[in-house]
Amino acid sequence: MSEPIRFYFRGETHQVDGLPNTRTVLQHLREDLHCTGTKEGCAEGDCGACTVVVGELRGNELELKTVNSCIQFVPTLDGKALFTVEDLKQRDGCLHPAQQAMVECHGSQCGFCTPGFVMSLWGLYLRHEQDGVTPSKREIDDALSGNLCRCTGYRPIIDAARRMGELPKVEFDREAIKAALRSIDQQQPLALTHAGQTFHAPRTLAQLAQLRADLPQARILAGSTDVGLWVTKHMRDLGDIIYIGQVEEIRHIVRQDDWLEIGAGVTLEKAYAALTGQYPDELSEMWQRFASLPVRNAGTLGGNVANGSPIRCRG
Ligand SMILES: Cc1cc2nc3c(=O)[nH]c(=O)nc-3n(C[C@H](O)[C@H](O)[C@H](O)COP(=O)(O)OP(=O)(O)OC[C@H]3O[C@@H](n4cnc5c(N)ncnc54)[C@H](O)[C@@H]3O)c2cc1C
Ligand code: FES
Ligand code: FES
Repeated sequence: MSEPIRFYFRGETHQVDGLPNTRTVLQHLREDLHCTGTKEGCAEGDCGACTVVVGELRGNELELKTVNSCIQFVPTLDGKALFTVEDLKQRDGCLHPAQQAMVECHGSQCGFCTPGFVMSLWGLYLRHEQDGVTPSKREIDDALSGNLCRCTGYRPIIDAARRMGELPKVEFDREAIKAALRSIDQQQPLALTHAGQTFHAPRTLAQLAQLRADLPQARILAGSTDVGLWVTKHMRDLGDIIYIGQVEEIRHIVRQDDWLEIGAGVTLEKAYAALTGQYPDELSEMWQRFASLPVRNAGTLGGNVANGSPIRCRG
């Protein structure tokens, strides 16, 4: 029998059992849990209406990043934390500065895109909550690069990105989330079976190699920024899946004097940050033109090479 998928959600460990392996996080939120704050616009990673923040324990650090919930599958959340726009309201009922600033700067009209923008703003807020640095215009543009708005226009939203740092600080309790994630950490790799198809999430390279040998036809899943669309747009049946996002050995970046080693499972955002450190003039503009921050936060370098997407870069 399959173990349930377990992740931190709304202050507790959320357990999920019996879902199709490719149920998206957005479908689960809206249709199974009736948490409808997170919106669906395009279901292909373009519009950002579905933006959520995913937290993951890496060693002793809590890594928090914005991703597009419409193209992420629920089993990839196993052992992680999921935050949506509903999590931002404070205990006393006040809005979070990311929300309050949107109100004060008139950053919303029809409101459809607003939860996604707010989550991207929250991601930016979290990045600077400890260092207190005011984000630059370029950093704000980048944080919002995955969010489209058809009616408000972007200037008030950019104003809100600046304004939120001036409002009374709200601290995010990272230690509590870390403790919660430690308590749900599963040593056993996730192995699900649904309708005769399996979903495996190996934790070590040896487990991955063994699964590859046992299931040579299985689909490798990394950041899901392309594979997700095969399901939401092409309605493809993926068959058995091996998710490699939990294999720590392929998520390393090693720097030496004259070389750089980037594991296949390193996210595009981290890989490009490492590469632009070496070649700032040649690569920094290209990096920012690649998709959007939530896509780069999920997509991996190995997935990009294997995928050979004809998109190349936006703009
Ligand atoms: C809105 C949007 C914009 C995008 N813009 C760009 C762009 O500007 N440029 C661009 O190049 N791409 C773009 N993409 C496509 C995609 O984001 C990238 O190609 C990304 O790098 C895919 O990586 P992934 O980890 O998400 O791969 P996945 O979607 O998980 O997998 C993609 C393919 O690679 C295989 N694979 C994954 N990892 C490995 C591995 N380690 N070993 C062997 N096979 C593997 C999978 O089996 C699958 O066939 C965009 C996608 C979206 C949704
Ligand atoms: S619904 Fe448009 S990016 Fe997810
Ligand atoms: S406020 Fe209407 S789409 Fe942004």
